Amino acid sequence: MQEPSPRFWEVFFDVYEGLPRQGPGDRANAERALAMCPDLPMQPDILDLGCGTGGQTLHLAELTAGKILALDSHEPSITRFKARLVELGLTGRVQAVTADMADPGVDATFDLIWSEGALYNIGIAPALDMCRGLLRPGGYLVFTDAVWCRDNPPPEVREPFELDYPAMGSIEDLLETIRKSGYSLIGHFTLSDEAWWNDFYTPMEKRVRELQPKYAHDPEASSALAEIAREPEMHRQYGDYYAYEFFLLRLLR
Ligand SMILES: C[S@@+](CC[C@H](N)C(=O)[O-])C[C@H]1O[C@@H](n2cnc3c(N)ncnc32)[C@H](O)[C@@H]1O
Repeated sequence: MQEPSPRFWEVFFDVYEGLPRQGPGDRANAERALAMCPDLPMQPDILDLGCGTGGQTLHLAELTAGKILALDSHEPSITRFKARLVELGLTGRVQAVTADMADPGVDATFDLIWSEGALYNIGIAPALDMCRGLLRPGGYLVFTDAVWCRDNPPPEVREPFELDYPAMGSIEDLLETIRKSGYSLIGHFTLSDEAWWNDFYTPMEKRVRELQPKYAHDPEASSALAEIAREPEMHRQYGDYYAYEFFLLRLLR
């Protein structure tokens, strides 16, 4: 599989930026993960890494009374999220910034670092290392990551993941990385299938349909749309080969 063209990325963001989420995840799974962090202060300071347009950040704002700093390297997502925070009157409690999580330049520490489907961009082991310096003692690091569930995936599944996430491993591989990282593992669980559809693939398929007329006379953009639409279809057919897993870690020393 080839590296996507610049035109592909334009169409990709036209689809993705309008979605409630830019990856699998939903409020119910976030609530379940938060309930596994019983010692959080009443008003935790939270850092959300790779927040996209802020779908899970808004769940965290509903589910906690904390202050949240949310960051993403894709500026248009942050611009869109900032506008939403103004609309919702949340700017006093939630701040969104454009930054690279590899070097976030954040001069603060947090009770909870949250990251859904984003840490893999800088590698899980380096991300765990980086987060250590941003967590208070006893602080939690909660993240999701894609994992293989079955051996020998067919090429239709293997090839797109090889392009986006060549280092993707199994749950056991991630647990081994966590064991070596110095964090304590609180628990982990697999995201429910609804978390792939309700806020992600169902709106994605709707958005693709809405954009088809806009790109009807543009063959490159139309083929980009068709390629984007293959991802939910792949999940329908081969979703048992891979999953998204929530991991809950704590910094106890
Ligand atoms: C799969 S999306 C998940 C977005 C959001 N957390 C969600 O679940 O809806 C991954 C996000 O990570 C962001 N990202 C990728 N590399 C990054 C980096 N080095 N620093 C900050 N954000 C990054 C992307 O821009 C994208 O918004």
